[in-house]
Amino acid sequence: MEKLVIEGGKPLSGTIRIHGAKNAALPILAASVLAKGTHVIHNVPDLLDIQVMLHILRALGCTAEHRGETVTVNTTSLFSSHIPEELMTQMRSSIFLMGPLLARCGSAHIYQPGGCAIGERRINLHLLGLEALGAKFEESGNMLACRAEKLTGADIYLDFPSVGATENIMMAAVKAEGSTTIHNAAREPEIQDLQHFLCAMGARIYGAGTDTITIEGVAELAPCTYRIIPDRIVTGTFMVAAAATRGNVTLERVCPAHLTSVIHVLRRAGVQVVVDGDVIHVSCHGRPKPVERVVTSPHPAFPTDLQAQVMVLLSLADGFSIMKETVFEGRFKHVDELVRMGADIRVDLSSAFIRGVPRLYGATVEATDLRAGAALVIAGLAARGTTVVEQIHHIDRGYDRIETMLARLGAKVERHAFNGARAVTL
Ligand code: UD1
Repeated sequence: MEKLVIEGGKPLSGTIRIHGAKNAALPILAASVLAKGTHVIHNVPDLLDIQVMLHILRALGCTAEHRGETVTVNTTSLFSSHIPEELMTQMRSSIFLMGPLLARCGSAHIYQPGGCAIGERRINLHLLGLEALGAKFEESGNMLACRAEKLTGADIYLDFPSVGATENIMMAAVKAEGSTTIHNAAREPEIQDLQHFLCAMGARIYGAGTDTITIEGVAELAPCTYRIIPDRIVTGTFMVAAAATRGNVTLERVCPAHLTSVIHVLRRAGVQVVVDGDVIHVSCHGRPKPVERVVTSPHPAFPTDLQAQVMVLLSLADGFSIMKETVFEGRFKHVDELVRMGADIRVDLSSAFIRGVPRLYGATVEATDLRAGAALVIAGLAARGTTVVEQIHHIDRGYDRIETMLARLGAKVERHAFNGARAVTL
């Protein structure tokens, strides 16, 4: 149990490199089981969720090693399709193994996945898609046994463009007999990254990044070497941190094209954002401007994963803003904590009404989920006084040593063990 202790009020300044995308790396690691042999995957961040995925791969019989930014997975000796319950419940992304295991072994045994408590987070669309390909499901206690003697291509329409369901169906369909089309597919950049990885293994997939994805099944896939895209949510988090502290920050190794909606909202808030190839410069002088209405929606609209962070910026704006959340119903848990730091925010159903205040004040607050935790860190950096953020294991699921990255930008942030001892010397 560790916590972050933040001395706020210091503008961030300097340059950092952004690590690889968690949400791209997790399905890609799961997809590695589709081909026997050794895959080498670069730009994989060192995060709790990645460690859990590597544990699961090992439990299934693979070897998996994470050195620096590179993961090497050998999937030849995979002997089980039964994901251990204690690992499955640690993160939602364990669900990504369903499609690949069905394709490789003809079966997958899973449990209700864990992950951030940000809403109901059902898996019905995953199951409907896999069922259309020929999978059958049987529940016994907490366990769900999935079997498919044969997977056959199908025409699948998703009621909602679910990121995970789109990815699971793509991974199952690559080795199905015949052609699969996913209509109303999610269009997130991580889905394009998965298509590129699967195609590097020999799959035939077209259309990722649009709402119609076609997969022509192939008999065999081969292992490959691949590089994960930069993390757009980490990039966005640091852009907001720079703006909220009225700092001047350069972010390297990023993909600005994945952040169009975010750059648009920040510019409306009066933040200077300059894009130069794979580099973004962010600076902000004075109080941000309010933004009348920000609405989260599937890509390419404004991402739900940056809603909490941008809410911190708007809570410091010179006026009134509205933030509407349309993707997850339970995603305003950070509001109570921000109010404790002096923010003036009222939630009504899926909208937050934010009246900007001149400043926030340090407090002891609790990270309730990954992105809410990141938002509280930003609030602490911008606030006057000391902020203690507890329950930071949530933050470690998505940010590779956030305090080290922030320290490079001049922030005063320390990781302490729960008993108060300093855990990391910066
Ligand atoms: C992924 C991301 C997460 C992000 C989210 C939305 C990963 C590892 N995680 O999560 O960071 O916040 O996309 O951009 O990539 N739904 C159903 N039934 C299903 C599946 C989803 O009703 O079978 C609903 C969910 O409850 C939610 C919405 O669809 O309300 C979006 O979920 P989805 O796009 O599937 O998100 P994840 O893949 O879980």
